[in-house]
Amino acid sequence: MDKLEIKCAGPLDGRVTISGAKNAALPILAGSLLSDSPVVLANVPHLNDVTTTVKLLRRLGAEVTVHDGMELEVNPSTINDFNAPYELVKTMRASVLVLGPLLARYGRADVSLPGGCAIGARPVDLHVAGFKSLGADIRIEDGYIRARCGQLSGARIILDTVTVTGTENLMMAAVLAKGETRIENAAREPEVADLANFLNGLGARISGAGTATIVVQGVERLSGGRYRVLPDRIEAGTYLVAAAISRGRVRVTGVVPTHLDAVLAKLAEAGARITQGVDWVEADMRGRRPKAVDLTTSPYPGFPTDMQAQFCALNAVAEGAGSITEQVFENRLMHAVELQRMGADLRIRGNTVLSHGVEQLTGAPVMATDLRASASLVLAGLVAQGTTHVERIYHIDRGYECIEEKLGLLGASIRRIPG
Ligand code: UD1
Repeated sequence: MDKLEIKCAGPLDGRVTISGAKNAALPILAGSLLSDSPVVLANVPHLNDVTTTVKLLRRLGAEVTVHDGMELEVNPSTINDFNAPYELVKTMRASVLVLGPLLARYGRADVSLPGGCAIGARPVDLHVAGFKSLGADIRIEDGYIRARCGQLSGARIILDTVTVTGTENLMMAAVLAKGETRIENAAREPEVADLANFLNGLGARISGAGTATIVVQGVERLSGGRYRVLPDRIEAGTYLVAAAISRGRVRVTGVVPTHLDAVLAKLAEAGARITQGVDWVEADMRGRRPKAVDLTTSPYPGFPTDMQAQFCALNAVAEGAGSITEQVFENRLMHAVELQRMGADLRIRGNTVLSHGVEQLTGAPVMATDLRASASLVLAGLVAQGTTHVERIYHIDRGYECIEEKLGLLGASIRRIPG
């Protein structure tokens, strides 16, 4: 298995162009199944999770073509299979996003249950309950969610917990349902709004996406169209933390700065000078040691759980004591144990990581346990004395496009060692 070798190389400095958002591209690819003619998508990142989704769409019978390596065309008119098997779902939970579109358009879907994963139980009970409210008959059999329906009917759905893919799945199902659906306590993430914008461009009638109440007026069909996926706020945030942790300066370009508000507030608290324009943000920490921050993760617009691990790495070398509490997922603090192996003074108390920043981490072989955990280990490696090897980097390839090239351009010493 490939690993990344990282050596301490001083402050990062430069600009990095941010890719399309993984968490928008995946539901949009799934949402293209709702249409009856081809959909062309721009700014889709080259990531393993995208490859897995394309594999899944092809397996369902869709034709997926890559144009000039830049745009993906999905032709869903050839769909002839309704089964998302365990081999694909186990590598990527977001495969469950095909359930809503298949059910709404074809009246049937068999999607393997994702099972446990490195960051907790992550159930899909709210997706299932929502589909039932829309009139689907759902059985759990042989490890599969087996869903059947005639035409779905609009309903009022109040989500018990804010769920991003749950909101997206139900919103997609509601697009072709008869009548009005209201989704309350909906996730407000920008990626939910991006999916709604995409679907509206194909003829859907969704309002309120990006707020806690989404209203969908069902339509008979969606046609084809083109769409550009929004930029990845988590990738952008990760490179800004790279600036802060290395006491350097990084400008991320091609971003939507307001999507980064919660992250920028914490970077400013850590002492970074933040400047921004219409589509760029710069963090400047030159000549200063970052200060530790306290934060708690919560759904958007709160501090994103997908940036928590990166801030743990920052706190590990920051001045003073910090506290990071993970509220969205259980068991998402595995990176703290690996950071301890690099000399970090961290204590895990329940779902909180308490830190006393050290002057210097030391390089070590470390193991990535999930996508964002691996990003935090790479960040720590940038400033650790000596050499750090981050193993199991297939996690990082799921969510960061060309990470070694992008960090390399900023001055990092990082290379992939094929294994
Ligand atoms: C999405 C993101 C992921 C991010 C997460 C939280 C994608 C592809 N992935 O994951 O990167 O970390 O949002 O911002 O967009 N829950 C239930 N029942 C359900 C569904 C969820 O109890 O049916 C719980 C989960 O266990 C978790 C919480 O709700 O504790 C939030 O999970 P959710 O928002 O669903 O995460 P994902 O959509 O899987």
